[in-house]
Amino acid sequence: MPEKIEIRAASRLDVPAIVALYRGGFAPAFVARTIFSASGIVNYLENIIDPPLANLYERLWVAANGPAILGFAHVRVLGDSLHLNNVVVGRKFQGRGIGARLFNEFTSWGDRLKVPRLTLDVEAENLKASNWYSRSGFATTGHQFFYEVSDPIHGEGEGQGDAAEISLDNWVEVQAWQRLYGFSNIRLQVGGKVYTVGRLGRKLFRLVDIPVGEIPALSRILKKIDAARKILLLRSSEIGADRRYEFLWITLRMTKRLGSG
Ligand SMILES: CC(C)(COP(=O)(O)OP(=O)(O)OC[C@H]1O[C@@H](n2cnc3c(N)ncnc32)[C@H](O)[C@@H]1OP(=O)(O)O)[C@@H](O)C(=O)NCCC(=O)NCCS
Repeated sequence: MPEKIEIRAASRLDVPAIVALYRGGFAPAFVARTIFSASGIVNYLENIIDPPLANLYERLWVAANGPAILGFAHVRVLGDSLHLNNVVVGRKFQGRGIGARLFNEFTSWGDRLKVPRLTLDVEAENLKASNWYSRSGFATTGHQFFYEVSDPIHGEGEGQGDAAEISLDNWVEVQAWQRLYGFSNIRLQVGGKVYTVGRLGRKLFRLVDIPVGEIPALSRILKKIDAARKILLLRSSEIGADRRYEFLWITLRMTKRLGSG
């Protein structure tokens, strides 16, 4: 039977296949640190696909051959950019132009929205994808460094600053979100400072761009909240060699300016 692959908006029925494609498209250690490892990722993607969100600022497309889902792309408006969250084509179907067709949906939606730029993040080691993006007019405009806090940090300097007032402002809502999706963002107040702390599954906390000097004290507080979780750090700047932080990988932020940018 001749192949007839169509690119169309994703429906709820496609979500399990989308999750399977993502989980098969990247290394397990990478997947484990993304929301695609979360127990409620299907609920989450279903809610994204349902209008009005899907029509306003977040879209998923699939490449389908009849009932078979061969690939997908997920994009969303992020500030004044249109951001490619993910594009994945099943291994057996790669190299046949499906990725390029999904990618076209992203770029043409960007043109229609008249956003000044398109952005995406790609693992620095994923040369196949990053070279492809470069050929499509994307340039590297930033980096994200991933680290894990080593356990001994929790014991360091015990007692210092531990008397700080802490509060979890949105705890009840966050717990509801965690139960449904398997990930959530806590708003943690420590003294006068407010931190957004991600929780992924049962095993990870996730901190984005926390000043290096504040990480040890914050880590001790998080350890008290949930001792079983490791702490993942995402940073736009590198931490120099420091045994307290285990380097994991780098992603490139790539950007393409559009007409008005
Ligand atoms: C990246 C990915 C989506 C490309 O999908 P695809 O359907 O294989 O891509 P296409 O056949 O449309 O080809 C797109 C480009 O990829 C390159 N490419 C595709 N297959 C390739 C292969 N086997 N080896 C090297 N490059 C290849 C081609 O150079 C092509 O570039 P061109 O259009 O300038 O010739 C797919 O490889 C994939 O899902 N990879 C795993 C997940 C991933 O890395 N996603 C991107 C993360 S940001």
